[in-house]
Amino acid sequence: MRLKGRHLIELTDYSPEEVRFIVETGLEMKRRFYAGERIVEVLPGRTIALVFEKPSTRTRVSFEVAARQLGASSLYLGWNDLQLARGETLADTARTLSRYVDGIVARVKEHWKVVELAKYSSVPVINGLSDLSHPVQALGDMMTILEKKGRLAGIRLAFVGDGSDNVLNSLIAAASRLGVHVIVASPRQLRPDEEILKNALEVAKESGATIEFTEDPREAVSGADVVYTDVWVSMGQEALREEKVRLLSPYQVNSKLMEAAPKAIFMHCLPAKRGEEVTDEVIDGPQSVVWDQAENRLHVQKAVLALLVP
Ligand code: CP
Ligand code: NVA
Repeated sequence: MRLKGRHLIELTDYSPEEVRFIVETGLEMKRRFYAGERIVEVLPGRTIALVFEKPSTRTRVSFEVAARQLGASSLYLGWNDLQLARGETLADTARTLSRYVDGIVARVKEHWKVVELAKYSSVPVINGLSDLSHPVQALGDMMTILEKKGRLAGIRLAFVGDGSDNVLNSLIAAASRLGVHVIVASPRQLRPDEEILKNALEVAKESGATIEFTEDPREAVSGADVVYTDVWVSMGQEALREEKVRLLSPYQVNSKLMEAAPKAIFMHCLPAKRGEEVTDEVIDGPQSVVWDQAENRLHVQKAVLALLVP
């Protein structure tokens, strides 16, 4: 399957076969890593730029390390250190960076910015999180579910918390392509992106996936294979904190809720706000796979870079 030169802005731009291929290549990258195989010949001499407008631990480090493991190098470019901060346009920034580097990972406050970079870049642009979505997170998460549960089709994933979350939007796009049943437990006013949901419902007709909504977290998690949550207050939403905490406090993932999901693994994209959306007992407990989940970002992003960067 040839994906060289493609941007990765949204998983809705990718077919079910392409998403499955990236996830399976991620597992293969992990296997090769632990077998001690050398993969530095995959992207020798390439350079990947990371243009980040928001903080990051996992995405930044896992992409930088992924590049090195593949034989490429990386450049971390904080937004405010670029001429972007002085008003140079995203279009001109993309045109310039394309003359130096072989791929761009961008983390932006507003989604249109990553779209704009891709429009004017002649090298692949990868969305490393926007206010709308986080596709590389969802790819790593599907890889983790496949690794832990041995399959994706027919898996029941309960997302408990902010139904308007950027990570949830990408999980819905990925899950719908892979036959995963998603049940979202959230207050009714917090809903996923309409366009992504519409696309997912369309794709789900073929894959056998389903997407359901409830306001009852217990109903969502009973019988679940995966219980997933994310922070209640995403980066950039600080002004909404009081309102979101008020709405979401009945949706904490704690031991009592996990009792209703005895066979489930617990997942969180991290960073967690311990004591808010999840308790210490759950994130540090026997059902939690969050550290393997964080590790898998590295392997799936090696797959993304190896497949997309020319
Ligand atoms: N999950 C995730 O993307 O984490 P960072 O914000 O640390 O990159
Ligand atoms: N929803 C979170 C995800 C962080 C990886 C945020 O956008 O802050």
